[in-house]
Formats: sequence, structure tokens, C-alpha cells
Amino acid sequence: MNTDTHAAETGNDQAHQAQNHSMTAAVQRRYGGPEELELERISIPEPEPHQVVVEVGASAIDRGVIHLMTGLPLLVRVVGFGLLRPKQPVLGGDVAGRVVAVGEHVGRFRPGDEVMGIASGAFAEYAVADAAKLVMRPSSVSVEHAAVSTTSGITALQALTKVGRLSPGQRVLVIGASGGVGSFAAQIATALGAQVTGVAGAANLDAVRELGAVHAIDYRETRIDEIGSTFDLVIDIAGLNPLRRLRRVLTETGTLVLVGGEGGGRFTGGIGRNARAAILSLFVRQRLTAFISKESREYLEPLVEMLADGSVTPYIGERTDLAGLAEAIAKVDGGGVVGKTVVTVGGAS
Ligand SMILES: NC(=O)c1ccc[n+]([C@@H]2O[C@H](COP(=O)([O-])OP(=O)(O)OC[C@H]3O[C@@H](n4cnc5c(N)ncnc54)[C@H](OP(=O)(O)O)[C@@H]3O)[C@@H](O)[C@H]2O)c1
Repeated sequence: MNTDTHAAETGNDQAHQAQNHSMTAAVQRRYGGPEELELERISIPEPEPHQVVVEVGASAIDRGVIHLMTGLPLLVRVVGFGLLRPKQPVLGGDVAGRVVAVGEHVGRFRPGDEVMGIASGAFAEYAVADAAKLVMRPSSVSVEHAAVSTTSGITALQALTKVGRLSPGQRVLVIGASGGVGSFAAQIATALGAQVTGVAGAANLDAVRELGAVHAIDYRETRIDEIGSTFDLVIDIAGLNPLRRLRRVLTETGTLVLVGGEGGGRFTGGIGRNARAAILSLFVRQRLTAFISKESREYLEPLVEMLADGSVTPYIGERTDLAGLAEAIAKVDGGGVVGKTVVTVGGAS
């Protein structure tokens, strides 16, 4: 072998090795719209001691993705996601896939396990996740169903149970019942024995009834405080109504759970409304609360049980792959997608 051939072969080996340690990911270097997303080859992440690397089968889009993509409200940047540019250039939290590597302190998982939960950078072929935010995926739950359920499903579950303290027989109003969180909230509340009224856009009212709601109301036709009934529990996911209107549809001792905060301006978003609710709650008989969903096994496990026993079936309204991600995010941002948008990465089924 002459020196030139040897150098060329060594170069090829290195290129091959680099190829083997790299993956395709949807990368975003600057805050902005979906046009900032580019498919790039980047390094496969390494696990920290308490982390797992997952070969991504599928992920999902939720409104949180849009906040992190745009860096809006600006509070998002201040609380640690990167002041000038995103600290984590690959978005995507929801994950279902196969474990390929585990950190030295991880005992619960090993390579080959099929898992689901919350990761970091799941709009890519591989993502890292804290082991505490993953559970095993039962074979009866498909990769796609698992991926779309995690963030939205555990948020809905916590809003209804831990924060909303729902009891069977109660009347529940879900504002934003056709969306990601709402499509789980309507089903979970129904499965827990509540009588659900869902609020959504006119085109999605049939879907809201299919999800279990006894009544479905078009928000453009009927203002929240003109519904004409009161509810033991109001779950406000759309996040666009003022507190005084929401309080009018609560019973005297009812509970309001603020999940979303899409109004409220460029700097703090819905935080102002959440703070006002917490203060007002000290002086009135109604319980007015807001919360940030806790990403942990504690909520993933009961959710998986509901998926496995069929009491909750994820509603997949849209599908994309990584190449179509920017367009799919723009569609979710534009509103009107029913349920969840799944992002298929591997050969998910
Ligand atoms: N607290 C937490 O930890 C947490 C966790 C996850 C998400 N969130 C927040 O929850 C919110 C919703 O997220 P998502 O992923 O479910 O969003 P989504 O899929 O876009 O759903 C939005 C829902 O709001 C409805 N809607 C739109 N405008 C409305 C209006 N004027 N009045 C009443 N309903 C209206 C939509 O109905 P149509 O589409 O039928 O028009 C849809 O049902 C976001 O603010 C997100 O950041 C919070």
C-alpha cells in the first residue's frame, strides 16, 4: 500500500467513524420562527451518570416547543433557556424509543429497553433523558401513542387530580378541549367519572364530543361567562380569558386551574394572571390555582396505565417527520390542529 492510498483510507475511516457518531437533528441556532430550523448532522449525545440515550422512534409538538423556539414570552430566556440564543439547539421534549446507552448511575434501564417519557433534544435521531423522567413502554401502547402522550398527558393528569382534586360526579369545564393538553384532559376527566363540558373552535366540536365531553361549546359563538352553567372545576388550557370571567363559571367553592397563559404580553406571558389568581385565592371561597407540570415517573406511570387499559386513547391530528417539522410547527402555531402532532423519527409504529 503506498502512502497516498494509506492516507486516503485512514481519512475514510475517520470520516466513517465520525458518521457513526453523528446523527440528523432539527437544529435551531437563533430564537425565531420555524424558518430557523435546519436539518444538520451533529454529534450523538453522551449520557451523564443519571441519564439514558434513547434512539428516538417518535416525538411530538406542543405549545411549549413554540415558546422555546421563539423565546417568547421573554421570561423563557431569563429562566434559563438562553438569554441571546437557545442553550439547547435541538428542541423536542416528548420521546418514545429504544435505550442505546445508560449512564453509570442508572440501574432501571439497559440498552434495548423500549421507553417513553421526557427527554431533551428529541427532534433528532438520538436524545438524552434523565432516567427519572422515563418509564418502560408497554407493547400494547404504540411508539406514536407513547410519544404524543407524555407532556400533554401528564399535564392534564396533574391539572385534574393533584391540583384540581377532581372527584367522580363533578362538573368540569375544559377550555381548549380540542388541543394537545385538552384532548387528554377531556378523556381523563371522563375516565375519572366527571361530567365534561369542552370549549373549542367550531370545526372541532365533534372531536371534543368524541373525546368524552357531554357538551361542546364554540368559543367564538359563546363567551365563557355566557355558558349559563357553573362548574366544580374549570381547567383553563387556552389561557386567554380574564380571571373575572373564569370565576363567573365556577361554583361558589369551585376550583380554577390555570394551565396555559397565551395572553398577557411579550415579557411575562400568563405569569401576571397566575400571580393575581394566587393572591385573590387567599380572599375568596373559590380556589384559584396555577401550576407548572412536574415531569416525573410519578405521573407517567398512571398515565401509561390509562393508555394500556384503553381509558385514554391519544388523538393524533397531524403527522410529520423531521424534514416536515418546520411546517408542522407552523401549523400548530396557527391553531386548529386537533389533539397532537406526532413527529416520526425512526421506524415508529
Ligand atoms: N402548566 C404547564 O405545565 C403546561 C404544560 C403544557 C402546556 N401548557 C400550556 O398549555 C397551553 C395549551 O397547550 P396545548 O399544547 O394544549 O395547545 P394547543 O394544542 O394549541 O391547544 C389550544 C386549545 O385552545 C383552544 N383555543 C384557542 N383559542 C381559544 C379561545 N379564544 N378560547 C377558548 N379556547 C381557545 C384551541 O381550540 P381550537 O384549536 O379548536 O380552535 C385548542 O383547543 C399553552 O399555553 C401551553 O404553554 C402548560
